[in-house]
Amino acid sequence: MALPKVNPSQTAAWQQIQSHFEKMQATSMKDLFASDINRAEKFHIQWNDFLVDYSKNIVSQETLDLLLNLANEVELKQAISSYFQGDLINQTENRAVLHTALRAEESANVMVDGVNVMPEVYSVKNKIKNFSNEVISGNKKGFTGKQFTDIVNIGIGGSDLGPAMIVEALQFYKNHLNVHFVSNVDGDHVNEVIKKLNPETTLFVVVSKTFTTQETLSNAETIRSWFLQSASQEDVAKHFVAVSTNIQKVTEFGINPDNVFPMWDWVGGRFSLWSAVGLSVSLAVGFDNFDKLLKGANEMDEHFKNESFDKNIPVILALLSIWYNNFFGAESEALIPYTQYLQKLAPYLQQGIMESNGKSIGRDGKPVNYQTGTIIWGEPGTNSQHAFFQLIHQGTKLIPTDFIGFKQSLYGNKDHHDKLMSNFFAQTEALLMGKTEAQVKAEFEKQGITGEKADFLLPFKVFSGNKPTNTILINKLTPESLGALVAMYEHKIFVQGVIWNIFSYDQWGVELGKQLANSILDEIESKEVKNHDSSTSFLLKAYLK
Ligand code: F6P
Repeated sequence: MALPKVNPSQTAAWQQIQSHFEKMQATSMKDLFASDINRAEKFHIQWNDFLVDYSKNIVSQETLDLLLNLANEVELKQAISSYFQGDLINQTENRAVLHTALRAEESANVMVDGVNVMPEVYSVKNKIKNFSNEVISGNKKGFTGKQFTDIVNIGIGGSDLGPAMIVEALQFYKNHLNVHFVSNVDGDHVNEVIKKLNPETTLFVVVSKTFTTQETLSNAETIRSWFLQSASQEDVAKHFVAVSTNIQKVTEFGINPDNVFPMWDWVGGRFSLWSAVGLSVSLAVGFDNFDKLLKGANEMDEHFKNESFDKNIPVILALLSIWYNNFFGAESEALIPYTQYLQKLAPYLQQGIMESNGKSIGRDGKPVNYQTGTIIWGEPGTNSQHAFFQLIHQGTKLIPTDFIGFKQSLYGNKDHHDKLMSNFFAQTEALLMGKTEAQVKAEFEKQGITGEKADFLLPFKVFSGNKPTNTILINKLTPESLGALVAMYEHKIFVQGVIWNIFSYDQWGVELGKQLANSILDEIESKEVKNHDSSTSFLLKAYLK
């Protein structure tokens, strides 16, 4: 069944939320906390080793009830069933959206075109397992008989960001293999990576769902030419493997079909790290850890699929985001993990969130008359506190922020971890409470600041507070908890796409960029500038001069 097509702004709930917003927009969270000592008790979800506290939001029980009504009115429950059971919900590409099948139990029954895909999913998982074990153990060797020391993942977008983010995040669990990522078609980037490598001991994983992406193919060709300076054509088979749906193109490139790890068109690029696209992850941390990552994601899938909406983490996070985006007019959201390991989480989710929900045509084919996809950005705390937090605290924009922290550090350095986490808690409290004039004056008194100086400084030192945050406190960064965290955001994307009545799983805007760059490349190569706007012609001529 296709996704329901309900314009959210035409629902009764939307109208009610709009009038409710008029009352709530001036509400002080401080007052909400003062009038209900059990607020955090009420507005949190404890699930497995996740504690999600969403009490520091400008919401009352009535707000949440109305937002939940909206979810019901747009038929979210039915949409979730369609998503998990493999209906063709990516209607503009006539595809199912089944990254959840990649982490489902082997006994599950997930049908695509009348065929259960699980046997195929598990056969590829086995191939990943065997291959990773062979490389990690050193049984599989390079063309001169040496063991592999380095892996290079060649891919872009979803074929790069997911594995790169996870390999970085799971560094603590890593083995001896050095894993590198080449994505940009920028030749300097490629050269910087290959200059450190020994062709005898490097394995290249070319990842491209379509195997037509300009960046990936150019990079793979450049790297193969570099490799062939030291090796023969036959040696390519020992050093190059591919992950793709396009076996024919992979074979044309010269990769042995035995070295191809298949994926399927029902896995979207930006949700593909759970497929063979995660091969570099499995090589970096071993198949068992890769499998634990999938297990964690599967647990979040089960939570999302089965939990009632009022206790459902992705649903609640999505509704809160809609509240700020569509009613408060917030344009962006920040995501601040208090661990350096998650430094690539925000860039990774930028593709997931903005490529999925950056759409302006509704599922009814008409332009939407409300805001859709939020802009997402972020950096780990505490670094980001010393970079852009000023704007979140005292700027003119409302930036709802997710704080992600862990109870335990991985190396057990308690002193550092307590300092890190004290910042984590202090920031959300400060964003909530702000600092009043009276508090600033009291500080001035203690510091001996008086008279004109005090009057002058006062307004700059006041913090209005009332800035919404979600706190996601997890026991420990493990492959399982990371899998669950990523799946949580994937489902938040889904819920928002359903409510906004858009198609979240295509990316025509990106396809346009691919076409345009190809036609300009022809002009650059032939040195013949064709018809463009005058600025583009002027710039192209300047480049060619
Ligand atoms: O960035 C756009 C995109 O189409 C993504 O969805 C995809 O992850 C990426 O390009 C790379 O595509 P491919 O894996 O086919 O090379």
